[in-house]
Amino acid sequence: MKLIYEQSKPGRRASTLPQYDLPAVEVPTELRRAAPPRLPELAEPELVRHFTELSTRNFGIDTGFYPLGSCTMKHNPRVNERLVMLPGFKDLHPCQEEDGAQGALELMWRLQEILQEVAGLHACSLQPAAGSQGELTGLMLMRAYFEDIGEGEQRDTIITADTAHGTNPASVTMSGYKLEKVATDARGNLDVDDLRAKVNERTAGLMLTNPSTLGLFDEHIEEVAAIFHDAGSLLYYDGANLNAVCGISRPGDMGFDIVHINLHKTFSQPHGGGGPGGGPIVVREKLEPFLPVPAVVRDGDEFRLDHDRPKSIGKVRGFTGPFGVFVRSYAYIRAYGPALREMSEVAVLNANYLLARLRDAYDLPYDRLCMHEFVLSARALKREHGVSALDVAKRLMDYGYHPPTIYFPLVVPEALMIEPTETEPKERLDAFVDAMLAIAREAAESPELLHDAPTTRPVRRLDEVKAAKRAVVKYGFEEHPDLSGEAGEARQLEAQKGA
Ligand SMILES: Cc1ncc(COP(=O)(O)O)c(C=O)c1O
Repeated sequence: MKLIYEQSKPGRRASTLPQYDLPAVEVPTELRRAAPPRLPELAEPELVRHFTELSTRNFGIDTGFYPLGSCTMKHNPRVNERLVMLPGFKDLHPCQEEDGAQGALELMWRLQEILQEVAGLHACSLQPAAGSQGELTGLMLMRAYFEDIGEGEQRDTIITADTAHGTNPASVTMSGYKLEKVATDARGNLDVDDLRAKVNERTAGLMLTNPSTLGLFDEHIEEVAAIFHDAGSLLYYDGANLNAVCGISRPGDMGFDIVHINLHKTFSQPHGGGGPGGGPIVVREKLEPFLPVPAVVRDGDEFRLDHDRPKSIGKVRGFTGPFGVFVRSYAYIRAYGPALREMSEVAVLNANYLLARLRDAYDLPYDRLCMHEFVLSARALKREHGVSALDVAKRLMDYGYHPPTIYFPLVVPEALMIEPTETEPKERLDAFVDAMLAIAREAAESPELLHDAPTTRPVRRLDEVKAAKRAVVKYGFEEHPDLSGEAGEARQLEAQKGA
């Protein structure tokens, strides 16, 4: 497929604009362009074909099964898009006076109330724009709290699990805390002995995902909470996996003091490719004074923004947060109503169904009932047939599936982390299992098929490091002045290799 610049022909246009009949604005010479911008020049049909063709080379939840563990790629109901587009929401200016934005403020207030109920905690801020920003905000709250009670200097360490998502250690470091890691025991829980040895008067808190990134609910969570609370420390719940437990168990009841909720993973959003997301944080009473401002509050029948919070850590995002994400999440939750737990029950059921059907063909490092996702290992395939988790993932693409998360969590060699979500029907799950079983057979009979995969996708194996570290995101006019003939073809071949 040719790049859009390679299709460009001077003088072609996709549209014509009417003559500009306002007086020309005098732009200072030093701010003026010396030459017109180098934009691609195409007629509209070719332009439409180009982008339509590109869209067919992408993979999304709307084109197929997307079992990307830890990312919770669930269906985004279309009715929620209609709601987001209601003029009262869509056209609202972020600087609108409060009395002209009562509906939006009420929606945010109601969402806060629901999230408090789901988390089993007392106060909420919707501001953080993603789980990772919720983590940073939560750690800033911890710091503000300990400074307020005179223990700011003393408490300098945060403990995380060795299964933690990469954003956990990153947030700990960004917020200026030292990081201490605790091991995982043979059943996939936090190793309580290792934990006891590491918690002391310097510990500010624990940061934990429960269920963990292994898809397992920690069997000692109350004991773990007691260890931290006895040491005067706080517990932070990374709510990325809340989709497993909504309406069933609550982080606040488990003993957690601060929770972030990845709205885009629990209450649907068209996420992926970096956004949009929402990472509200919910906290216990004693942490409420430190929450970001403005707080959305209710005053009788009115809703307003409260800036008067002297102990607040301040703002963590513009205005009141990603409002469109709030509308979709609120609509998703209201569609379930009091039956919200069914969402989590079906997510857990779907994951256990897949696990039961796949467990004999792949290694299962922690043999327990899973929550909403589970981790298999391609360790035996590698040992016996030289086939890696990467090979399995690439071969799945030939079967028309988005690969699961691989090589994470780090404690499982050749990890394949599979999360079906609750919005997949049994037929879809069965078809995925058939593909996984066929791939396990191929690994034994013709491993080269897997080494070469994918063979049916627009691109073969990329040099992924180069593609990530040296992504080419602008057209190199100087390097590729001749776009036609052999030079153009050679360039396309290079692009397919990720160069
Ligand atoms: C366990 C866990 N924690 C934190 C995050 C970070 O969330 P976000 O991508 O919204 O920043 C993720 C994201 O995948 C996750 O899986």
